Amino acid sequence: MTSQSIEQSGPIRVERDGDILQITSDSPPVNALGAAVRDGLEAAVKAGVADSSITAIVLRCDGRTFFAGADISEFGKPLQGIPLPTLVDLIEASPKPVIAAIHGTALGGGCEVALGCHYRVAVPSAKLGTPEVKLGLLPGAGGTQRLPRLVGVKAALEMIVLGNPVSAKAAADMGLVDKVVGEDTLAADALAFAREVAGTRPIPRVRDRVVAPDPAAVETFRKTHGRKLRGFDAPEACITCVVAAAERPFEDGLAVEREQFMALMNGNQSAAQRHLFFAERKAAKIDDIDPATALRAIGRVGVIGAGTMGGGIAMNFLSAGVPVTIVEMQQEALDRGTGVMRRNYEASAAKGRLPADAPDKAMALLSPTLSLDDLADCDLIIEAVYEDMSVKKDIFTKLDAIAKPGAILASNTSYLNIDEIAAVTKRPGDVLGMHFFSPANVMKLLEVVRGRQTAPDVLSTVMALAKKIRKVAVVAGVCDGFIGNRMLMPRQVEANKLLMEGATPEQIDRVHVAFGMPMGPFQMADLAGVDIGWHRDPSRIENIRDALAAEGRWGQKKGAGFYDYDEKRNPTPSQRVAEIIDEFRAKEGATPRDISDEEIVARTLYTMVNEGALILEEGMAQRASDVDVVWVYGYGWPVYRGGPMFWAQSEGADKVVAGLERYGFPVAKGLKTGEAFK
Ligand code: 3HC
Repeated sequence: MTSQSIEQSGPIRVERDGDILQITSDSPPVNALGAAVRDGLEAAVKAGVADSSITAIVLRCDGRTFFAGADISEFGKPLQGIPLPTLVDLIEASPKPVIAAIHGTALGGGCEVALGCHYRVAVPSAKLGTPEVKLGLLPGAGGTQRLPRLVGVKAALEMIVLGNPVSAKAAADMGLVDKVVGEDTLAADALAFAREVAGTRPIPRVRDRVVAPDPAAVETFRKTHGRKLRGFDAPEACITCVVAAAERPFEDGLAVEREQFMALMNGNQSAAQRHLFFAERKAAKIDDIDPATALRAIGRVGVIGAGTMGGGIAMNFLSAGVPVTIVEMQQEALDRGTGVMRRNYEASAAKGRLPADAPDKAMALLSPTLSLDDLADCDLIIEAVYEDMSVKKDIFTKLDAIAKPGAILASNTSYLNIDEIAAVTKRPGDVLGMHFFSPANVMKLLEVVRGRQTAPDVLSTVMALAKKIRKVAVVAGVCDGFIGNRMLMPRQVEANKLLMEGATPEQIDRVHVAFGMPMGPFQMADLAGVDIGWHRDPSRIENIRDALAAEGRWGQKKGAGFYDYDEKRNPTPSQRVAEIIDEFRAKEGATPRDISDEEIVARTLYTMVNEGALILEEGMAQRASDVDVVWVYGYGWPVYRGGPMFWAQSEGADKVVAGLERYGFPVAKGLKTGEAFK
């Protein structure tokens, strides 16, 4: 049957196909449910309901996806147009069946619109989910009340509180999708489906369903996921709403949802998480490079070093289907490295995180070798050997002779000067830093270090490649420690000084953990290794760390560091460390005093913010939100505090400045002028 009439109003198109009305949204890039879309949908649904010749309505989207949610950029601003919950109610109240035809990602408000519809059909590649929790929110357009009524408490908790989407097939299995249709025939299949159900009465409305309370599922859920959700407000609010869905009438549950949603929306945590959503996407943009710059093709990647870092780096590319040549100096080290990679893949497959054939598929793309010459056909070569300038220079000199013209040469250094490394080659424009974080196959952050001469297309290519391997990439300038490690330095210096002045490692770490960091500076030292960067001369003891290292207290791996560890690596405060600290205090004539938590915050966290401001002032980061992205994705800064610069701004720049001044730190200009928050 052919279309009989087409009407376009803003982003919404309405077509009649016999007695079926098709409403299509065309609002790129992701059909977010902004005011124009919502108002257009309201008008179209009302028109369909009013037209007596229409028997059913199909709702779908053009472009890459079904509605990917409410328009996040509208949050925090005055509401315009019809509210989303009202629109969903309007759709559900239609006396004619409305069918959601889903492709791409029906997320958040998009999923809630689908739940307001009477039927849902989806293509096999579609995903459905309620990721609002990741924005510090909950599904606030009836989703917390409708989803449990359709899929039960247990599945709803997983979807709403964890925020991970499900496939069309999984959605069909749990009753969220009524029919999985042809991948390329969504429009036609949805029309056919609409004709089948047009006469069905009563029309199935999710609000009319009842879901049994399931306290056991709630308890198990809390036990399984409680730790991961520590510090966040939204998960608890989500649970409250899901429980209400099972225990209360629909309208009462909606009232609970509304109240909880508004509290979250007006709170700091969601503001921080929304900030990060946009910050992560902004980080991919390079201010002074044309986004249309032609990229270099990356068909094969070379990695030098098959240790923990090199192996982890290689896995990123293998997982994305990019062949990798990996080089080591000794056969034994090469075998050990590739063995670890295979075992990592196999462990993920055993846990069901990867398909069973994924380890073989990935490893088949790997070419291990002992010869640098085998890197000649690589389009990108990443050096991941240990941190020593002369070793790196030697490798880059060799690479310059081996790599094909146009190949990108990257160093995984975490501190060293990329310009100095680039200078040993005849192609400094092709050189840059790619600083991965350990474990490199897991951690999301990639600092891309732009050398003085790095060519624009080299930088753009690596930033685009980062997205392909699912990293969040941030551009950093050449300075000691780039963005992340540079900010770690003042924190470490102050933490050490605080020990001398009277604080304990436990107190300092406790303040950091209470703040929301995964661990404090001394727990981190124990995890990474107290011996890292140690001069290895036991007779030269200049500070507490040297003393620990000289006694073999190298951290968790030795069962002793700043803490004592049992066989399960549980830490307890160490008597011996307290003695060492006392000895040092005595030697330096330091009289310990009581140190307040507030002082620890000012001296270890405000100083990081101050360093961030200096980094911005020197142009070593493009924007404040990039600094936030680095610390959230690379160092576990609590997401709900939005990153150091966002946090400082929400604390109040004045308070941070006053704190820094109180303890005698020179304050970066940008903190006073506000430049540090741009
Ligand atoms: N609102 C506003 N803008 C959005 C958006 C949204 N919901 N989702 C994506 N965008 C923007 C992005 O900022 C980006 O803009 P840019 O090009 O200017 O940087 C552009 O759309 C493309 O997004 P991505 O780069 O993320 O594209 P991908 O293809 O990688 O991913 C996606 C697509 C999976 C849809 C991903 O964008 C995503 O996860 N979006 C957010 C989904 C979400 O959280 N929805 C819930 C919103 S809250 C809600 O619905 C509340 C309700 O319950 C009341």
